Amino acid sequence: MVTLLSLWQPFSFIILIISTIFLILIYKWYSNSMLTAINNRSPPSPPKLPIIGNLHQLGLYPHRSLQTLARRHGPLMLLHLGSVPVLIVSSAELAKQIMKTHDITFSDRPKLTAFDKLLYNCKDVASAPYGEYWRQAKSIGVLHLLSSKRVQSFRVVREEETKSMVENIEKFCLSSSSVNLSQIFTKLTNDVVCRVALGRKYDDGEDGKKFKKLLGDFVELLGTFYVGDYIPQLSWLSFVNGVDAKMKKVAKEFDEFLEKVIDEHVDDYQNRVNGGHDCVGNEDYKDFTDILVHAQMENLLGVAIDRVSIKAIILDMFAAGSDTTSTALEWALTELLRHPKIMHKLQTEIRSIAGSKTFIAEDDLEAMVYLKAVIKETLRLHPPIPLLVPRASRAKVEIDGYEILPGYQVYINAWAIGRDPISWERPEEFDPDRFLRSDVDYKGHDFQLIPFGAGRRGCPGILFAMAENEIALANLVHRFDWGLPGGASVENLDIAETTGLTIHRKFPLVAVPSLYNPLC
Ligand code: HEM
Repeated sequence: MVTLLSLWQPFSFIILIISTIFLILIYKWYSNSMLTAINNRSPPSPPKLPIIGNLHQLGLYPHRSLQTLARRHGPLMLLHLGSVPVLIVSSAELAKQIMKTHDITFSDRPKLTAFDKLLYNCKDVASAPYGEYWRQAKSIGVLHLLSSKRVQSFRVVREEETKSMVENIEKFCLSSSSVNLSQIFTKLTNDVVCRVALGRKYDDGEDGKKFKKLLGDFVELLGTFYVGDYIPQLSWLSFVNGVDAKMKKVAKEFDEFLEKVIDEHVDDYQNRVNGGHDCVGNEDYKDFTDILVHAQMENLLGVAIDRVSIKAIILDMFAAGSDTTSTALEWALTELLRHPKIMHKLQTEIRSIAGSKTFIAEDDLEAMVYLKAVIKETLRLHPPIPLLVPRASRAKVEIDGYEILPGYQVYINAWAIGRDPISWERPEEFDPDRFLRSDVDYKGHDFQLIPFGAGRRGCPGILFAMAENEIALANLVHRFDWGLPGGASVENLDIAETTGLTIHRKFPLVAVPSLYNPLC
């Protein structure tokens, strides 16, 4: 008896503790639910579970699950992801209220662990909290790196890399073998960003392989769900499942890489100064790192930017600019393969403008209106970041008669808005012609089409991304005719999606090119 009791005692103590924690959590959940119920000015909310709130309703494809929930509860919903109130916006009209009418109130970003750990404690532009630092860092990007003049100055890089992609694909035509286009697009956009941001490609040998892997891990981790952000009691899970360690490792390796790149640029800058070289002050000759290093050395920007800021701003080019752009190309080609008549119409436009040229240069693109319509239609149906980058509310505000409190996270479902029958006729149909009949654009003024977001926090890389997408797509469909491996029919082309922040195809896009001869 004594022995049994002594065995039982530690267990009863543990059970007592667990029951107490459980009761506290139930009490907290109950009082929170009561608060929500009492505040009937809150947007509609689906019922939630204790502790996890509505997390279980997100599923593997949150943009799709949230569209279904919005059909039931309305275009403005308040969800609770764990303990965090999250506003879900699913109509063009309400997106306009958030990103235009009340833009300043919703110009903050939530503090997320992945951003914090991978982007130098949010010293980059995309994840920086709203404030003076973000304003200055963004204006450096907009004025010196992503302005129309700067994007134009990188034209040679885009043309050379597109040419190299086309030559690479030509080799597959000789053997009639299939090409992994997903891989080719990733390489193209990484190479362009590397040359423009760092001054050269990192694609050869062991170093190239390591860099490719590092970049892949980095992008994947940025979109990883970090449970502790929503259920702080479970933050320890990220230590147990290895996510935390992986983030630290990738952040450290990227930091070492960027340190080396910046050192090389500082040496180069000093050599040029010592040699009295002409182009020290001429931005047209420089990559992003050059410009930032030069600006730091000579304090040209009127604001002090330190080495950490330089690294974070460069990293944004990879975080925000590479994966998104290749994803758009991947979906554009997927839709063209699924719709042979649209592919044919696009090829007819491009080939009639290109004439006997085998390579389309950027000057030829201006007249290609159908090409631009195809890209818009792709971004409507497949915005690469379907829920955009989350925002956070900074003050109490009324939207559509509902009270929104400070500190709410905000997800704008651009994917659902692009398929909303209120804004679009036959919304599920891939029909680029709709853009030949309308002026709707993706630049942030037409809220039914917002793949790049809008307002103060809108994407500053639109020109950069579109210049690259247009030249790549034009050359791919001009130089080659495309089929599916083994003569498979287009109905068999899989269009499953990945999970994460950026939504790719789940399976790589594989197609068979055959060379088009403009002289035949
Ligand atoms: C198809 C390609 C791209 C897509 C779909 C895209 C999409 C987006 C979206 C949805 C946002 C958040 C907007 C918001 O909160 O309203 C964003 C922000 C941003 N993007 Fe892009 N982007 C693309 C290409 C690029 C490129 C090429 C760059 C730079 C080289 C870039 C740099 C940025 C930066 C720095 C931000 C943060 C802006 C801020 O927080 O103030 N993006 N992008």
